[in-house]
Amino acid sequence: MYLTGSFCAETAAGVIKKQAQKTTRNLQELGESRIQCAAESVCLYRLGRGESTARVVFFAPRREKPNAFYLQRTSLPVVCKGFCTPLRAAHLQGEMAGAFRARQGDVIFDDLRAIQLRHGFLPKAELEGLSQRSQTPLYQIHSVASFYPHFHLAPPPKAEIRVCADMSCRLNGACELRAGLERRFANSRPEDVQIRDVSCLGRCDHAPAISINDHIFTEVTAAHAEEAAHGAIRGDDIQEPHPQQARVACKADPYIENEKYGVVRKLVSSRAWDDVLAQLKAAELKGMGGAGFPTSMKWDLVRKQPDPVKYVVCNADESEPGTIKDRFIMTNLPHLVIEGMIIAGLVTDAKRGILYIRHEYHLQEEILGEEIRRCYRSGLLGKKILGSDLDFELEVFVSPGGYICGEESALIEAIEGHRAEPRNKPPFPGQIGLWQKPTVINNVETFINVPQILARGIDWFVAQGANGSRGLKFVGVSGHVTRPGIFEVPMGAPMRDVIFNQAGGVRGGRKLKAFAPSGPSSGFLPASVVDVRLDFKALADAGSMLGSGAIVVCDDTTCMLDMALNAVRFYRNESCGKCVPCRVGSQKMADMLARWTQGGIAESQYRADLALLDDLSQAMSLTSICGLGQIAPAPIQSVLKHFRSEIDTHVLQGQCPSGICFTPAARAGEVQRVGIHP
Ligand SMILES: Cc1cc2nc3c(=O)[nH]c(=O)nc-3n(C[C@H](O)[C@H](O)[C@H](O)COP(=O)(O)O)c2cc1C
Ligand code: SF4
Ligand code: FES
Repeated sequence: MYLTGSFCAETAAGVIKKQAQKTTRNLQELGESRIQCAAESVCLYRLGRGESTARVVFFAPRREKPNAFYLQRTSLPVVCKGFCTPLRAAHLQGEMAGAFRARQGDVIFDDLRAIQLRHGFLPKAELEGLSQRSQTPLYQIHSVASFYPHFHLAPPPKAEIRVCADMSCRLNGACELRAGLERRFANSRPEDVQIRDVSCLGRCDHAPAISINDHIFTEVTAAHAEEAAHGAIRGDDIQEPHPQQARVACKADPYIENEKYGVVRKLVSSRAWDDVLAQLKAAELKGMGGAGFPTSMKWDLVRKQPDPVKYVVCNADESEPGTIKDRFIMTNLPHLVIEGMIIAGLVTDAKRGILYIRHEYHLQEEILGEEIRRCYRSGLLGKKILGSDLDFELEVFVSPGGYICGEESALIEAIEGHRAEPRNKPPFPGQIGLWQKPTVINNVETFINVPQILARGIDWFVAQGANGSRGLKFVGVSGHVTRPGIFEVPMGAPMRDVIFNQAGGVRGGRKLKAFAPSGPSSGFLPASVVDVRLDFKALADAGSMLGSGAIVVCDDTTCMLDMALNAVRFYRNESCGKCVPCRVGSQKMADMLARWTQGGIAESQYRADLALLDDLSQAMSLTSICGLGQIAPAPIQSVLKHFRSEIDTHVLQGQCPSGICFTPAARAGEVQRVGIHP
């Protein structure tokens, strides 16, 4: 028998403590009294048959998540003992059959995927059945299913065409492509074809990219897309083109001529864990996922945690427009990714690793799966690694979608089967991470740096960098360049060298106008600073950031206000909606910039807009919970700094100097985009 109700966690905690020793009848009365609470924490009372005591579990309020300090098992019947604010409401992780908790085996996504595979969408009756079978409240299932773009709550059309609308595709004709497709399918029935925008598909080097029924097509024309969509309408099997490519030999691979996994082989017998940390520290290895946090510190923190259960997570979500380097690394150096994760497990005493990969990376998922199986067969993974008493299990988790899933705590929430809403920090994942356990979480490229350093030594690592920087860097270059792609360059190389030598310079002999060193989050820098070095500090000094190495190049035909609008729309679309500054602020910013692109604004109003934009930017940067909301103002702030006159011309003279913003396609505005549903 279960009673549910809404309670103020604080009130309920106090009341329940007093009630805990009372009879079942008292608890029933309490359950029915339904104290209302603004925080909407949900309590669930489990009244065991024939038991005189009851167990109580508090669910976190919808927008707050449990904190492991309050998860200690207790012998008392009241398991929420000790918490005092809604923030600290806790899940019981024990054997509560009726409680919703992160299932550490098959998470809810597997069930949802199975249903979607059978029906093409998630019918209500099936969700109700799942709720009963799994003893999971329907609202919880619905809140997850409705959040992720991967799941459909209504039958999809036969051909679901999604055109990537983000930076690199936008610079390569995505807007015109969508307009062309809309014309071609103008007379189609909605149940046959639906055309919508979508966020970056991870193919920025082959723009424009589209997906049809989740199969990705690159460098497409409207005619090509139309043909594939007609195939889908007829019910043909859509084949995603997978060009066969030989593996690219990389300087970063220490095993080109040697047996792979040499570092793990040595470590298993030497057990020199402290030495690993010392070497990573001496090498000054920083995280390559964007923030540049020292890797040795992160690993050391996890290593010092007394908890016997720990995890290692590899962040291969890479969903920011322009970011494609991890795709390349996973394709060409899968053994280094896995070796880096095993080393992290051995050093920190974590016995399980999860590689979290975006769902658009089917090929890389296969490559990694194959490599993992090979490792299990050769005893490098699993129980008793290479005959020792050390264990490390590794599995791949396919993301249900959304840029926000790349934020480390949101990613953890996703693995646990929840909505991918970032957690408040601290505590950090190194202390309280996956399933409330200490967790190492690093980017793909960070992991591959570890075996490089340990196999070849610090001197080798230092020598790979240029101009005082250390190591090698994988960068994606896309936009208006002759040879878009992923390049392995020395850290510290001048941006000019990367854009003009590696990527072949600006396409069609045009001039460089601007570049984003790392997708929208880095903002834009003008051509005049193209000699800036590819390095954490050098780019920070230039008012930008190294981020994830996603260089997007704009030639002199680009409208920078249009690019800023495109970037803020990306953030608005991908905002998880958990906090107001980002959810509302990104929409307000997108609305303001859209108005600016269309001109006709009085000077006094423009001045007021500029002041409001500053306030908004500050509020978002200072008060958003996670990096997404904090960084969302960067693109427009950089355009205001470096290309102010271009904005003035739009707003005050009603002209777009690049002839982009007043075209019919731009004036038509956006179509509804597929994405996260806050
Ligand atoms: C909105 C958002 C998206 C992110 N996406 C990624 C991502 O796709 N891959 C990644 O490694 N880090 C991403 N990060 C950074 C992670 O939160 C985290 O800092 C990183 O995975 C840590 O690994 P590192 O120390 O090796 O860089 C993202 C951060 C934010 C705020
Ligand atoms: S800043 Fe944006 S993405 Fe991050 S938690 Fe807040 S609403 Fe979600
Ligand atoms: S695939 Fe279009 S911007 Fe990345």
